[in-house]
Amino acid sequence: MFASKPEDTPTAANSDAIPRHIAIIMDGNGRWAKKRFMPRIVGHKAGVETVRAMVRHCAEKKIEVLTLFAFSSENWRRPEKEVRLLLELFVMALKREVKRLNDNNVILKVVGDCAAFPEALQQEIANAEAITSTNTGLKLVVAANYGGRWDIVQATRALAIEVASGKLDPAQIDEAALERHLSLYGMPEPDLFIRTGGEERVSNFLLWQLAYCEMHFTETLWPDFDGDALDVALSSFSKRQRRFGRTGDQLELGENA
Ligand code: IPE
Ligand code: IPE
Ligand code: MG
Repeated sequence: MFASKPEDTPTAANSDAIPRHIAIIMDGNGRWAKKRFMPRIVGHKAGVETVRAMVRHCAEKKIEVLTLFAFSSENWRRPEKEVRLLLELFVMALKREVKRLNDNNVILKVVGDCAAFPEALQQEIANAEAITSTNTGLKLVVAANYGGRWDIVQATRALAIEVASGKLDPAQIDEAALERHLSLYGMPEPDLFIRTGGEERVSNFLLWQLAYCEMHFTETLWPDFDGDALDVALSSFSKRQRRFGRTGDQLELGENA
């Protein structure tokens, strides 16, 4: 049977406004450092400075959600020393930034399988989330030990538990039911995806949520990504016609509903 209109399809529109939710793969730190004959961790440290600047820019532009890919479930495959330094940097950045985030009314949320992290990091995460949880400004989502496949699997497991306990009839499983268990539940879907560093791939980031996201790839390495580079991405986004399956003619006639 054909559904004439999938439920909950976002309203098709010219995206002349700014995106509500920006999701970024912050890539290129290692190459940034290598170009300067410095260890990769120096690039990661420079990348933290870019994070701070992006949070400020997004808050000023009244973006609702900024999701940043900080550590993928595949990044454990890196040399043990780089993994250790990255996790240490994460602890340090949380300690140093939580006050500033709180002063700026930012809500911090970390998504991913944090149970795999050292206890000290888990504590810093819980602490930063608790301190900022009642804020009302920009939602900063940091994806750490996150993978899009992991997210879908853990949501599927949660549904299976509901079915096994008799709380959920399998016939009731639809997109909304699965979404309720995904890491970004309750937030608007990402409208704009940015990947710095020149690679044009998704690398197991938000697989489910990127279904209708506008993609922007740039050669700029993450530590060099600045307000002007963000404006280039926003300007490109604003010129796109988001059709969500409809035709351009339908949109021009205002058949959005
Ligand atoms: C992204 O930069 C940061 C993380 C994955 C933690 P990379 O470390 O991947 O930098 P390149 O791609 O090697 O330049
Ligand atoms: C993706 O970058 C993950 C993060 C930015 C955290 P990678 O540099 O790990 O991606 P691949 O391996 O080149 O696809
Ligand atoms: Mg990389």
